Formats: sequence, C-alpha cells, structure tokens
Amino acid sequence: MDWGMKNRMSRVFKPETGRAVMLAVDHGYFLGPTSKLEVPRETIEPLIPYADSLMLTRGVLRTSVDPGANTNIVLRVSGGVSIVGPALENEGITTSMREAVRLNVCGVGLSVFIGTEYERQTLLSLAELVNQGEEYGIPVLAITAVGKELEKRDARYLSLCCRVCAELGAHYVKTYYCEDFEKVTRSCPVPVVIAGGPKLDTELDALKMVANAIEQGASGVDMGRNIWQSDHPVPMIRSIRAVVHEGYTPEDAYDLFRSLKEKGSKKAASV
Ligand code: 5RP
Repeated sequence: MDWGMKNRMSRVFKPETGRAVMLAVDHGYFLGPTSKLEVPRETIEPLIPYADSLMLTRGVLRTSVDPGANTNIVLRVSGGVSIVGPALENEGITTSMREAVRLNVCGVGLSVFIGTEYERQTLLSLAELVNQGEEYGIPVLAITAVGKELEKRDARYLSLCCRVCAELGAHYVKTYYCEDFEKVTRSCPVPVVIAGGPKLDTELDALKMVANAIEQGASGVDMGRNIWQSDHPVPMIRSIRAVVHEGYTPEDAYDLFRSLKEKGSKKAASV
C-alpha cells in the first residue's frame, strides 16, 4: 500500500487500536430530512470531537461542517435514487474522484446491492472507484446495502457480499451485524465495520451489538441512528468509543453512558 493510502487508512482506523468509530450522517442522500438529522450541523457539531471520521455527502460537508474542524471525512459518492422512487438499488456514482481530492477526504464510500437487478451496475461502479482510488491513494469503502429488505441480513448473504467487495478491491467494507457474524469477518480479507441499522429499543442493546461485533472480528463501527437518534447522542458516542477503542463491556459502557448523561443534565440545569 502506498504512503498516501496508508496515511488515509490510519485516519479512519486509529493506529493505537486498529479500530474505527465512524459517524454516519449520510442518510439524507436518499431519505431526505431523516428524524434528528433535519438540520445536519446541529446534529453533527457536538459529535465531531468523539468521531474518528464522519461519513457524509459533499452537500452536507460543504454546508454543515466547518472546514477548520479537526475531523476526517469519508465521502459518500453513490446515490441518484430516493426512498420515494421506484428502485433504491439503482444507484450510480454521484461524485468524482477529483472532487474527493479537492475536498481532502480520507476515503470514499459507495453502496452495492448484491442479488438485485442492479448488482452488476453497482459492483462495476465499485471496481471503477477502486481503480481511481488506487490511482489517487484514496481508500474505498464498499457498503453492502439491503435497501428496504432488512430481513436479508444473515451471515450467509452478508459474508458473500463482503467477500465479493473485497475481491473487487474494496479497502474496507461496511455491513450489518448478524448472528454468526464471525463467519462474515473471517472470510473477508479486509477490515469490516458495522452499520447500526434502525434505532434499537435501548442504548444497552446498541452497545451489546457493538461489543459482540468487535468480539467477532469487526474493526469498528460506521454508525448513525443509534447514536444521533438517542436522546443523549454525546454520551452514546462516547460509550461506543469506550467499547471500540478501550474494550469496555456493554454493561460498563452503559454505566459510562448513564453517568455522562447525568453529568450533562446537571450541567444543563445549572446554566
Ligand atoms: C445508508 C448508510 C448509512 O450510513 C448506514 O446505514 C449507517 O447508518 P445507521 O447506523 O443509521 O444504519 O450507509 O445507506
């Protein structure tokens, strides 16, 4: 791996632990103003100090993130469809590698829709993006998207998806946590990070999912709704960091969550 590629990878995966806490705030690219992400700057700004990188579109980057903020960017470069259109899977590349370089990003990400009518199109987009990424030293994150078919998230399907992405040259892969997750990580020769999916019932449930994923070989998270749809997003991302980077158990991380939440409420009451 060339120096530039290695340097960008180490901005996402912290060299101290080899793991990543990526904050996903790209949902608007097909969902529009998602709940609690209606005003992106308000959601993102307090979380920046606790995220190793942000995953977002160029539109939200330019409008809602201070260029002086000390943060790393993984740019969402696929899209072209929306939740109200006929086929969420019919994505193409929306943003050029030249634009990614101009924005000084440390990675680009796109979704692939394996097993759908658009499998070939999205996989060839991945391969082309990898060709360009190799040329410019920019790592490519492949996202094994399932669209509206959340029930597809099992180890057999996701391990196939992750392996196909790695074979096409993706530098790391984002997928969903599932039962037998070790099967997914073991057969994928590049790092795997997990998306959180729709918000779980409790923060403890989300922390358990993250801890299980790490224990079964995940290299981190690229998570959105289970952080910023929490009523206490800063304590939540800090607790997730504790699991990913410091090896906290879910129970210890949940204690941390509760104490940070209480401190936050006392501080707010004293203002
Ligand atoms: C949308 C995405 C999101 O970034 C991803 O799903 C992570 O967010 P969440 O944790 O809310 O699922 O790639 O296609």
